[in-house]
Amino acid sequence: MKWKIPLYKVDWDKEDVRTVTNVIKRGMDWAIGPEIEEFEQSLANYHGSKYCVVFNSGTSAGHAALLSLNLKPSSEIIVPSFTFIATANWPLMVGAKPIFSEIEEETLGMDPSYLDSIISKKTKVLMPIHYGGMPCKIIEIKKFAEQHKLILIEDSAESIGSTIGNKKTGSFGDMSILSFAGNKVLPTGEGGAVIVNSKKIYEKLKLIRSHGRQINSNYFQTNETPNYISLGYNWRMSSMTAALGISQLSKLDKLISKRRKNAQYLSSKLNKHSKIILPFDYKNHKSVFQLFSIRVTDNLRDNLMAFLTNKGIMSKIFFEPVHLSKFYSKNMNEKISLPKTEKISQQILTLPMYPSLTKNDMNFISDSINEFMETL
Ligand SMILES: Cc1ncc(COP(=O)(O)O)c(C=O)c1O
Repeated sequence: MKWKIPLYKVDWDKEDVRTVTNVIKRGMDWAIGPEIEEFEQSLANYHGSKYCVVFNSGTSAGHAALLSLNLKPSSEIIVPSFTFIATANWPLMVGAKPIFSEIEEETLGMDPSYLDSIISKKTKVLMPIHYGGMPCKIIEIKKFAEQHKLILIEDSAESIGSTIGNKKTGSFGDMSILSFAGNKVLPTGEGGAVIVNSKKIYEKLKLIRSHGRQINSNYFQTNETPNYISLGYNWRMSSMTAALGISQLSKLDKLISKRRKNAQYLSSKLNKHSKIILPFDYKNHKSVFQLFSIRVTDNLRDNLMAFLTNKGIMSKIFFEPVHLSKFYSKNMNEKISLPKTEKISQQILTLPMYPSLTKNDMNFISDSINEFMETL
């Protein structure tokens, strides 16, 4: 289907093209080029953290983060069910068990007050997400992690640049996972990263990323024979991708400010409907609006979605609860019920949101929603 208004568009400019072209024209070091360390350093600085390791996807970054902890197979990791499926799959990838947490309605993130009811002796890690770019109640979650000596990994795949006060998401946890997939706030097509302060974990992540290979210089540029000291993968990012990341990161604040302005405008056009709950900034949490998700009450969500589809406006359900997906319902031993997650998933509808979304586009979206509401 050719959409009049797609869910997202990437914002690119001549500098993006120039920087990637430069790497291509160099004719070498398309892998393990100097752009990798430069991008890592810039991302670490951006988060006020010591280290960063980039990967070829957010999924491999999260997988590597858990591998670096050497968890026992019986370990439990608490994740929200209201998330992209990768968050729940990460524990399974390392032989651990995902335990699903309920969410709260203010940020749509992991509910800190629910954690007491699901923690056990086997719980080792908490992995909250910042839904659609809205910081979850990470301060309360961190407090809980500290009280119970749990490792805190922020799944910040959707939230680079979002803040609580002056502090960026991704800088609260022991580690943070970023994604640079095409629909993210900082897109490079595909890509991911782990932000971390521990040097020991940083070194482990680099080994996991690249075959467990211990080497002092660029593998492709040296005739030195490396040592292979642990099990590893090839989860490296290409130099072209890192170059694009550096260029996108240099304008990230501008891109975020455009998203926030657009979100404000679209909200102002939709705030008259009693059957729509708009996304809002909770207290001093500032969303970067990777997603602009409304909640539609009175079982009207699916009809509104079909109405918008007919108009050529793309909308999408982010997310169906992971615990109700075919894979999880088939493979989980015990049936669980998460009433809030299930209710919100039935109401949620993500509307188009991107930096270059115009007032005309947003007027068309809001006029269409008004028209739908008038048919009721
Ligand atoms: C919350 C969340 N976690 C993890 C991921 C996985 O990232 P990637 O698509 O880069 O593998 C995504 C991205 O889709 C996500 O939204």
